Amino acid sequence: MTTLSQDELKTLVGQAALKYVVPGEIVGVGTGSTVNKFLDALASIKDQIKGAVSSSVASTERLRALGIRVFDANDVAELAVYIDGADEIDHQGHMIKGGGAALTREKIVAAQSRQFVCIADDSKLVQTLGKFPLPVEVIPMAAHRVIRQFATMGGQAQLRLKNNAPLVTDNGQVLLDVTGLQISDPLAFEAEVNQWPGVVTVGVFAFQKAQICLLGTADGVKTLTF
Ligand code: A5P
Repeated sequence: MTTLSQDELKTLVGQAALKYVVPGEIVGVGTGSTVNKFLDALASIKDQIKGAVSSSVASTERLRALGIRVFDANDVAELAVYIDGADEIDHQGHMIKGGGAALTREKIVAAQSRQFVCIADDSKLVQTLGKFPLPVEVIPMAAHRVIRQFATMGGQAQLRLKNNAPLVTDNGQVLLDVTGLQISDPLAFEAEVNQWPGVVTVGVFAFQKAQICLLGTADGVKTLTF
């Protein structure tokens, strides 16, 4: 048996996600290297859909380059499906997201969608969320207080840098990456951190969890339903 690379697994799940795209409708799209594979596949059926709502500047640029119309989230009502990757996903469909810095818009588009289809290679499947550094988007003036607040729960939070300066998100805010957490109750964790002053979005997706995960494995694409 030939072993597939992580890149090939991403291609497989990106292609498998096409069957969840509803013809004649607008599809919600996430951000990241796995989603990029999905977008390449989506281009092959672009005449069958109206277009997409995008979760980042990067995905918007890619959609436009592929000739797929991008709609503003405010100009459309509910979406049938949102397709996105994850940094970690547990066996209930809760996820950590935001490794690509797009968590806030991802959560907005996910909330606007009836179904979240997660596409991931099997390295992302975990028992308990928290090994991947948890991204948290914050308003800059709150960054140090939120870092101290994570320390009280045993988390080490660091400001994400890009070119030696704080990374600025698509929304003009900054990001913390938090290690040392074991998120055993994702719903309670998300609810708590969301209400800390200055937190824009925490990268735990429990309220907006996946209903389906297309998982790329050595034996092909496995479909997990939650
Ligand atoms: C983007 O901010 C993230 O939420 C991505 O969905 C996540 O990081 C997965 O990205 P990859 O598909 O590149 O692993």
